[in-house]
Amino acid sequence: MQVTWILPDGARVTAEVAEGLSLMEAAVAQNVPGVVGECGGNLSCATCHVQVTDDWAARVGGPEEFEDAMLDTVDAARGPTSRLSCQITARDELDGLVLIVPGA
Ligand code: FES
Repeated sequence: MQVTWILPDGARVTAEVAEGLSLMEAAVAQNVPGVVGECGGNLSCATCHVQVTDDWAARVGGPEEFEDAMLDTVDAARGPTSRLSCQITARDELDGLVLIVPGA
């Protein structure tokens, strides 16, 4: 599946992502600036924060309760479609997904 990250300066990074990989792992593999994944996907750092573009928000879905609490700790402003990208798994139905990397 293909994923595009829009960076704070408007630049885009697009990559093919293998199904089953988390979108944090995919971003780190692509050196997407601003997605760090410090805790390795254990829901304890929130450095993998992204905002899902409106068109995709319903398909991606919202955060679980603990992720929701973690999102309250993010540095960049939390938006209505914010997710921790370690909790989004690449899957076919998300092919073409566009994510926004919030500015710090
Ligand atoms: S990588 Fe730490 S919360 Fe997602």
